[in-house]
Amino acid sequence: MSRWKKIWRLAPLFAVMTFLLTGCGNPTLSALEPKGPVAREQLFLMKLSLSIMIFVVIIVFAIYLFVLVRYRKRKGQDGIPKQVEGNHVLEIVWTVIPILLLLVLAIPTVSYTFKHSEDRTQDKDAIHVKVTAHQFWWQFEYPDLGIATAQDLVIPTDKTIAFELTSADVTHAFWVPSLGGKIDTNPGVRNTLYLQADEVATFQGKCAELCGASHALMDFKVVAKSNAEFDAWVQKMKTPVSVPATAQKGEELFKENCMSCHAVGVNGLGVGPNLNGFASRTMIAGILGHTPENLEKWIASPQDEKPGNKMPAFGKQYGGKLDDNQIKDIVQYLESLK
Ligand code: CUA
Repeated sequence: MSRWKKIWRLAPLFAVMTFLLTGCGNPTLSALEPKGPVAREQLFLMKLSLSIMIFVVIIVFAIYLFVLVRYRKRKGQDGIPKQVEGNHVLEIVWTVIPILLLLVLAIPTVSYTFKHSEDRTQDKDAIHVKVTAHQFWWQFEYPDLGIATAQDLVIPTDKTIAFELTSADVTHAFWVPSLGGKIDTNPGVRNTLYLQADEVATFQGKCAELCGASHALMDFKVVAKSNAEFDAWVQKMKTPVSVPATAQKGEELFKENCMSCHAVGVNGLGVGPNLNGFASRTMIAGILGHTPENLEKWIASPQDEKPGNKMPAFGKQYGGKLDDNQIKDIVQYLESLK
């Protein structure tokens, strides 16, 4: 069987795979399913440029096929046909059409590019969030509200969220496909971006710049709440938790082992994520389901879950200094930080 025949026999397989794989996707991680005004405007630009490109391809191929058929060599035709050169009308037409198409593409693209990079951090109605990217987690400060958190960015719907972004180490990129973006976070540089969510939902965020071993695991969540729920969350974050008696042993262990990196106060910052309100977060380390077992696994050996991160292993069997019961106590304490 010839090589081409073999390849041709694979065609149905590719067709079925195309059909099945186009169904793969995540509605909370797709720029094609916008959930806010910025993402919608960006999708409009994608659709506009795509339609112009498809239009050009169709016209060019139609002319190509027409010429191929209409002027093909016919029976009894000998020699080279009459050679023509230069047609002012045609030359003007195929110079002017691309210029017009580029103008149609450029005007909205340039205007949205400037609009979306506006610094809205001074807006009175906007929620101001300072984002600092770390290898491999995200720190979120709300300077006007006096709170700080990590990994779960909680926002109200229908309000402009004005971001000011930087990095503590290398270049990362902040991206929430459902809401729009993305923008680099560079050490020592302040970038700005604003986004807005239409609906109460949890959207996935990603780091979109290769930043080290666990770049692909540098996820975060955007938790969009109603205005009333957002205000309640802020109040809860500001209210000191009363640690139950069952979690006090864990609190002591946490203070001895974890406090030098992890703040638990309202707006404290540290080498590691602030853990105020940790029990209400959607994930552990941004990637593991929020269960006590996963938290134990993480504390015992974080390098197995997210290689290259800065947290040392605490499990005795991984060279750390805590036994299983001590880790369970710390987990109990962390799960009391509602
Ligand atoms: Cu941070 Cu990739």
